Amino acid sequence: MNSKALKAALENIRYPGLSRTLGELNLISSAKVTDNKAAIALLTVSDESYLTVKEVILEHFQNQFSAMDITKKLEVQKDMNYGDTAQPNNRAPYAKNIIAVTSGKGGVGKSTVSVNMAIALAQLGYKVGILDADVYGPNVPRLTQTDMERIKWNDNNQIIPSENYGIKIMSVALTTPTMDTPLVWRSSVAVSALLQFLEDVAWGELDFMVIDMPPGTGDIQLTMAEELPITAAVLVTTPQIVSTDDVSRAIMMFKDIKVPIAGIVENMSYFIAPDTGNRYDIFGQGGGQKIADKYAVPLLGQVPLDMAIREGSDQGRPPVALGDENQKKYYQDIVDSMLSEIDFKL
Ligand SMILES: Nc1ncnc2c1ncn2[C@@H]1O[C@H](COP(=O)(O)OP(=O)(O)OP(=O)(O)O)[C@@H](O)[C@H]1O
Ligand SMILES: [Mg+2]
Repeated sequence: MNSKALKAALENIRYPGLSRTLGELNLISSAKVTDNKAAIALLTVSDESYLTVKEVILEHFQNQFSAMDITKKLEVQKDMNYGDTAQPNNRAPYAKNIIAVTSGKGGVGKSTVSVNMAIALAQLGYKVGILDADVYGPNVPRLTQTDMERIKWNDNNQIIPSENYGIKIMSVALTTPTMDTPLVWRSSVAVSALLQFLEDVAWGELDFMVIDMPPGTGDIQLTMAEELPITAAVLVTTPQIVSTDDVSRAIMMFKDIKVPIAGIVENMSYFIAPDTGNRYDIFGQGGGQKIADKYAVPLLGQVPLDMAIREGSDQGRPPVALGDENQKKYYQDIVDSMLSEIDFKL
């Protein structure tokens, strides 16, 4: 293989967990082959992503060269080519701040955290909207008891968002014939639907737009980061998966695309027995703190595994609005920490 072929092959490798290639992300600075030895220089911005990319390259070319030297080019600032993420479009100029709630894995409580954080912000007097960006598993309407509503249009041909618990709500689940109609859209169609929800919905002026993202680090996440100046990302995890690659990958993606991470929410951290009130640390203690330390991002708070949170959420009775004082406080504390971590425009 000559240098040119090596560069082309490198550019075709997909970044782990993303839909884009190393070439599309502009991560390859140079590639040289001499005497069957490969020398590759990478342009990654963080040490973590350097290690990820190095690993995937080594795996890809196993034993094809007598030696592989993969270095990180000493260039801290570079023109990233994650689309236009470094200077994103702004499809939501009516929102002063945009918070993306994400997770590496599904089912960790992202939607529950998004809805309760949005309501906690509204309880502080802010104007808040929540966009359900999880087009394939939209459940914000159920969590907010708006699942029986269907979209209506105003005289300006704009979609009127649903409203409950003091927040405005938009979700594809409000547009389908029934809440549980499955969507079989290609991701490009899903992305266009979301862009329409940003542009054609009568959100009014918002202090905060909270986005409940789908799990992972795919197309929708990257498109949202390209089309919106995300003020901060909140990463939800559970103690079992705290140390897994999925969480690290999500953190690295946001670091690489330069979206500030407000912090980590550890959900289902410990169990409070409903009968005795005793606390059980089923998964051990301190997982969320460890990962927060590892990536130097704050731990915004912990929410225990609490049957009342699941039951209330299933009935569209958000714990931060209708739960007991403890349940309200978990989410209000998370919002307080987030407000003190990030310099929001208010
Ligand atoms: N702290 C908690 N205590 C008890 N149950 C919880 C807690 N947080 C979330 N749940 C429950 O866990 C389930 C998954 O939560 P949720 O739907 O918020 O996760 P998600 O990350 O948005 O999932 P998905 O990836 O499918 O969108 C729900 O049934 C929810 O009620
Ligand atoms: Mg969800």
